[in-house]
Amino acid sequence: MGLFLTARISKVFIFLCCLLAISEADKLKTFSKQYGNTFNQTDSEYFMVEAPAMISNGALQVTPDSLSDDFSKANKSGRILLKQSFKLWNDGDDIPSNETRVASFNSSFLVNLYPANNSSGEGLTFLIAPGLDLPPPNSFGQFLGLTNATTDGNSSNKIVAVELDTFKQDFDPDNNHVGLDINGVRSNISASLTPHGITLVPPAPNASFHNVWVEYDGVKKIIEVYIAEQEKQNGSTPPHPSSPIIRSHLDLRGVLNQDSYFGFSASTGNTAELNCVLRWNLTIEYYHEENQWLRIVLGAGVPGLVLLLVGAAWLGYYFHKRRVERSKSNILGALKSLPGSPKEYEFKELKKATNSFDEKHKLGQGGYGVVYKGFLTSENLEIAVKWFLRDNIKGQDDFLAELTIINRLRHKHLVKLLGWCHKNGKLLLVYEYMPKGSLDQHLFVGQDKPTLSWNLRYKIVSGAASALHYLHNEYEQRVVHRDLKASNIMLDFNFNARLGDFGLARVLENEKTSYHEAEGIPGTIGYIAPECFHTGTATQQSDVYAFGAVLLEVVCGQRPGTKIAGCNGLAEWVWFLHRDGLLLRAVDEKLGEDYVAEEAERLLLLGLACSHPIASERPKTQAILQIISGSVPPPNVPPFKPAFVWPAMVPVDIDSRTTTGTTTSITNSHFNSEWSQQYLSRESYAGYSDHSMV
Ligand SMILES: *[C@@H]1O[C@H](CO)[C@@H](O)[C@H](O)[C@H]1NC(C)=O
Ligand SMILES: *[C@@H]1O[C@H](CO)[C@@H](O)[C@H](O)[C@H]1NC(C)=O
Ligand SMILES: *[C@@H]1O[C@H](CO)[C@@H](O)[C@H](O)[C@H]1NC(C)=O
Ligand SMILES: *[C@@H]1O[C@H](CO)[C@@H](O)[C@H](O)[C@H]1NC(C)=O
Ligand SMILES: *[C@@H]1O[C@H](CO)[C@@H](O)[C@H](O)[C@H]1NC(C)=O
Ligand SMILES: *[C@@H]1O[C@H](CO)[C@@H](O)[C@H](O)[C@H]1NC(C)=O
Ligand SMILES: *[C@@H]1O[C@H](CO)[C@@H](O)[C@H](O)[C@H]1NC(C)=O
Ligand SMILES: *[C@@H]1O[C@H](CO)[C@@H](O)[C@H](O)[C@H]1NC(C)=O
Ligand SMILES: *[C@@H]1O[C@H](CO)[C@@H](O)[C@H](O)[C@H]1NC(C)=O
Ligand SMILES: *[C@@H]1O[C@H](CO)[C@@H](O)[C@H](O)[C@H]1NC(C)=O
Ligand SMILES: *[C@@H]1O[C@H](CO)[C@@H](O)[C@H](O)[C@H]1NC(C)=O
Ligand SMILES: *[C@@H]1O[C@H](CO)[C@@H](O)[C@H](O)[C@H]1NC(C)=O
Repeated sequence: MGLFLTARISKVFIFLCCLLAISEADKLKTFSKQYGNTFNQTDSEYFMVEAPAMISNGALQVTPDSLSDDFSKANKSGRILLKQSFKLWNDGDDIPSNETRVASFNSSFLVNLYPANNSSGEGLTFLIAPGLDLPPPNSFGQFLGLTNATTDGNSSNKIVAVELDTFKQDFDPDNNHVGLDINGVRSNISASLTPHGITLVPPAPNASFHNVWVEYDGVKKIIEVYIAEQEKQNGSTPPHPSSPIIRSHLDLRGVLNQDSYFGFSASTGNTAELNCVLRWNLTIEYYHEENQWLRIVLGAGVPGLVLLLVGAAWLGYYFHKRRVERSKSNILGALKSLPGSPKEYEFKELKKATNSFDEKHKLGQGGYGVVYKGFLTSENLEIAVKWFLRDNIKGQDDFLAELTIINRLRHKHLVKLLGWCHKNGKLLLVYEYMPKGSLDQHLFVGQDKPTLSWNLRYKIVSGAASALHYLHNEYEQRVVHRDLKASNIMLDFNFNARLGDFGLARVLENEKTSYHEAEGIPGTIGYIAPECFHTGTATQQSDVYAFGAVLLEVVCGQRPGTKIAGCNGLAEWVWFLHRDGLLLRAVDEKLGEDYVAEEAERLLLLGLACSHPIASERPKTQAILQIISGSVPPPNVPPFKPAFVWPAMVPVDIDSRTTTGTTTSITNSHFNSEWSQQYLSRESYAGYSDHSMV
């Protein structure tokens, strides 16, 4: 009865309050935020960042961040936007537009546009967009990640952008200008920076950073853009210039969505550049009704009190219901935490363990994400926490199903997965901490550090081979590693090999991962079997191919993609030496005399056999183990590297194969050695080298 009455009363009050609320205009509030000194992983919560854009090296990399001259950086477009939208004017269609004001904003940011190949292109924009969509397809090149050939100039785009354009199109004044773009890349107004003594992209290797101010006055409806170069000597922010480069009338209300998003877009074309934002101060006015209710309730006195009570009752019911739902998922949770299953960690637990994902705790960074070292006080345990960068992770259930398989794998040469955390789109995996890092960090040390001894190298490849054999054969559900490489072979305290990241490619939405990414974020170039570029799927044979690349890498102390003596890649070079009977010349010079010739020859021949271009000709893991242990002689390797053939034929004899299939060169454009080398050094678990100009 009482409940019934209060419900009636509350309905009346809600009605009254609605009337009041509608009659009041939304209140103008201000959002203000300073992003800098460096952008980091924590920021990815607040930004929409999707490949090829990413947050790395402390900056928003709106297009790919590598400085190397590779093809994958050409013809790219990206966007990074704040996930929050802002209501830019009030409703009230009856008010003439010349008499309403719209929200004002000030945005100032520090950019580094650095030429990839001593030539620049295409540019970066400060963008106000109607949604969090990715840039439209084919918005690379002249379209700056804003529009494409179909949509350019269409008023349904509802975008306003300030472009920093570094490539001249026919409609541009030059390759060094600022423009105001409304719904298209043909700027409504533009101005060259050259007369102002500003060069956005000076010739390499000189980098220069520019501070840009975009200021909008929503009362006068005027937009202004200012630019100044950052002090080269002391890196301090230059003073706000007194006169703008661009000044224009602009009524946002006629162009944008009422609720819009703020951020950046950029593109590269045939020529590429680094398009990154290092700092960003943003102040935006916006309309919001938030405090209305509170004000009305307080003003309404006693009836308000009643309303509050009703509200409290409703909240009580809500929380009760939530508890019920929670306990349901707790049952699921309990099931999941049966022994042998990965454990779910709370985000805050991992945050605490890594000291809020402190940069100092960063072990490394790869295509998937960033790895931090952590310490779980509750379990007195050192851990490695991998925070995945991507958004396209499968649903939680699929994800758990995969993790359960991965977690059931037990082998002394596998890195143990301890748990996971998947919440609000964030995905983190928790592993045992590996004190000696990854294999590549020990192979490619500087002059100052001792090189990995032959005995340790042999022990490591034996361990890795036995782990691979276990994945392929010994476990009931055959598992393909999919991403075997030196940076995924971790080392425990005693330098025992421990394979990491196995099966992960399947957990992530795209089965093909590395192969698919060969064009985007190349993790693994020299380790990818040639057939994978065609099939896009990983198999046991492609794992063996990658293992072969690791074997050669370990013996030669060179990365798989290295160009030596005019050869394309390490395997080709070793194959030439083999033909000339000079196989042992391939052994890492850093070893000096410290190696066993017979063992080295065995591993090199095995490495070549595993690198066979035809998948079916590669040895199986069983044979690999026997050859490494010395119980079986090394394989017979033909003196010339066979040609890659596609489609793969049932092996009959060499001649019929080469004539029926299309012979494809394995050395396609993806195999740019310098580039993969640079990437690989970045990819390593802990040996993360900061090469960007930030
Ligand atoms: C807005 O426009 C109307 C008609 O065009 C005009 O009468 C009015 O004075 C204008 N208001 C302002 C503030 O300019
Ligand atoms: C933007 O900056 C100008 C001065 O540079 C200031 O007058 C104005 O109030 C600022 N606007 C906002 C929305 O902060
Ligand atoms: C952001 O604002 C702070 C404080 O006013 C200032 O020191 C800094 O230089 C500004 N950064 C940018 C990129 O404008
Ligand atoms: C960079 O320059 C080199 C030659 O100097 C050329 O081979 C390569 O294709 C260029 N890369 C791009 C992305 O323009
Ligand atoms: C441009 O983008 C739209 C979607 O925004 C798409 O439908 C259209 O096909 C694209 N045009 C080109 C030339 O790619
Ligand atoms: C603009 O885009 C809308 C929606 O995509 C489309 O219906 C319209 O035809 C386009 N207008 C022009 C001139 O292309
Ligand atoms: C800006 O350009 C767009 C597209 O060309 C056009 O529709 C619009 O009227 C222009 N606006 C101004 C203020 O010049
Ligand atoms: C880039 O070009 C400039 C002038 O053309 C030249 O002085 C400079 O050495 C070049 N830099 C590189 C890294 O090639
Ligand atoms: C790079 O900067 C230095 C010092 O400011 C200058 O002497 C040199 O000429 C610049 N190089 C180029 C290629 O502009
Ligand atoms: C940085 O250098 C500029 C000129 O070289 C000078 O005007 C400015 O005061 C310096 N700032 C700081 C913080 O040292
Ligand atoms: C970039 O795209 C243009 C036009 O589609 C094409 O002609 C060019 O070959 C592409 N460049 C690269 C390096 O892929
Ligand atoms: C990451 O950036 C945020 C916001 O700029 C800052 O509050 C936080 O301290 C940073 N964290 C680290 C580990 O640098």
